[in-house]
Amino acid sequence: MHSVRAGRQFALAEVEDVVGQLAESVLRNPQALIGLTRIRQRDHYTFEHSVSVAVFLLAFARYLGFDETTVRALGVGGLLHDIGKTRIPLNILNKPGPLSEDEYLVMREHVNLGCALLDEHGGVGPIAMAVVKEHHERCDGNGYPLRLQGDGISRYGQMAAIVDVYDAITADRAYHHAEVPTRVLGRLLEWSAHHFDQQLVSQFIRCVGIYPVGSLVRLMNGWIGVVVEQGDEDLLHPKVRAVYDTRKRAFMPPQDLDLATPIEGDDYRIEGAVAEERWGISGADYLE
Ligand SMILES: [Fe+2]
Repeated sequence: MHSVRAGRQFALAEVEDVVGQLAESVLRNPQALIGLTRIRQRDHYTFEHSVSVAVFLLAFARYLGFDETTVRALGVGGLLHDIGKTRIPLNILNKPGPLSEDEYLVMREHVNLGCALLDEHGGVGPIAMAVVKEHHERCDGNGYPLRLQGDGISRYGQMAAIVDVYDAITADRAYHHAEVPTRVLGRLLEWSAHHFDQQLVSQFIRCVGIYPVGSLVRLMNGWIGVVVEQGDEDLLHPKVRAVYDTRKRAFMPPQDLDLATPIEGDDYRIEGAVAEERWGISGADYLE
């Protein structure tokens, strides 16, 4: 839904693939579904967020080449990562506006509460458990509850932290019309220098596809271009084939731009992703 709203390609095959894995995770772990129902009754936002985090974690884990068992375990961890919120008083959980210092401390307890809840229940493996336990830890030691640092946080916990923040900011956008996902990814990269492993963030961005090949972007100078190659080194500056000039309201002879290298003249920075329907341009038509 976020992709489509941002004007990116809708890849049904990928969705089906991910949902297939999600379904399998849930079927193999009935407790995941029970927990999810419990979350849904109390807090609809957390429910949606849990599903998103699970789906992103499944996709990310598969992108990193993890084996199927690990991929599924991460999916389960994603679904359950905020299960502890079911034990947070509703007046704090659903409070409109910012939390007080004390309320925030209560809110943070959702990590320990979640782990306790799953321990009680049993049957949740160590990988899913790591996701629940470590999704608020940060590489610089400023996370919670254990203030773990760097490699003290498992790979799974680090992945969960990135995905959790990414989904929280993009969802925030739905409520406060903040930023398009592409810009969110850029900021994730900029801001996260101390919070996350940079290589892992880059891999996540590549996995999500910040500017997927074939998608349309609008440049600051008013041109519409088709992404023809994702920047390998420089993810925010792909190669773009400009095809339409919105100022002249006319198609132009296709012009290839490598946004990773400085170009004289106009402002060729990407303003944002745009929808194909809006301009009647099919990106795929311009790929060789
Ligand atoms: Fe959380």
